[in-house]
Amino acid sequence: MDSRTPLLVVANWKMNPRTLGAARELLRDITKVIRGKRGVVVVPPTPFLTELIKTARSTALAFGAQDLSQHGVGAHTGEIGASMLKSIGVSYVIVGHSERRGDGETDGVIHEKLRQALAGGITPILCVGERERDSQGKYFSVVEEQVRTALREVPARKIGQVIIAYEPLWAISTASAAPRPATPEDAHEMTLFIRKTLTDLYDRVHARKVRILYGGSVDAKNIQGLVAGSGAQGFLVGGASLRPDDFKGIITTTHGS
Ligand code: PGA
Repeated sequence: MDSRTPLLVVANWKMNPRTLGAARELLRDITKVIRGKRGVVVVPPTPFLTELIKTARSTALAFGAQDLSQHGVGAHTGEIGASMLKSIGVSYVIVGHSERRGDGETDGVIHEKLRQALAGGITPILCVGERERDSQGKYFSVVEEQVRTALREVPARKIGQVIIAYEPLWAISTASAAPRPATPEDAHEMTLFIRKTLTDLYDRVHARKVRILYGGSVDAKNIQGLVAGSGAQGFLVGGASLRPDDFKGIITTTHGS
């Protein structure tokens, strides 16, 4: 994957909006923004997925889930398995989002979830990112550890099916009192570092097959700089994906008008 790879934009709605009716409306607005362009993934709350996938059947939108179970099937009350998601038309699943890590999800559980996604034929979007940056560069080892643990035992032949999203917590719009998006340079440095970690784990050929996204306060204003300078092959968008005008600005930059 290189700079000519078409960009992927993933709209993480998180726990929004409140009702199915409002979700239908938001999807209608997003569909108008997309106008048939490929490479946009909508990730709504799970209860809305079936209905929204049905509604969007004639569009180019793909769908993702925000989480999945670390188990395949069975006595796990409240859990949702990869095969269930796959059977309703879900193609992607976010794994290890910082908001789930914040609720106690460990690297070990994230590793199991990633394996379940791959086994179920769904593309995992593995979120990694440091809580804060220190002057000695320890944050690199934080991200390296997250990548290494999640990908443990994932064979080289499957690594091309994994997407990694670099989302530093200090940049996520809702994660801190004063979020600031990473500069394109900060994001670029980390995409290179993640690629190097993948090369160490596999080899250059396989490392290149992994799509790396950037996420954290991406909006219509900063997207141009991030496309030009971050080295990311796409973006994970939270807050701005709930604002159709802002989202339109992002898509116009990533996919053309
Ligand atoms: P944000 O969220 O774009 O609102 O910062 C990104 C995310 O948490 O995935």
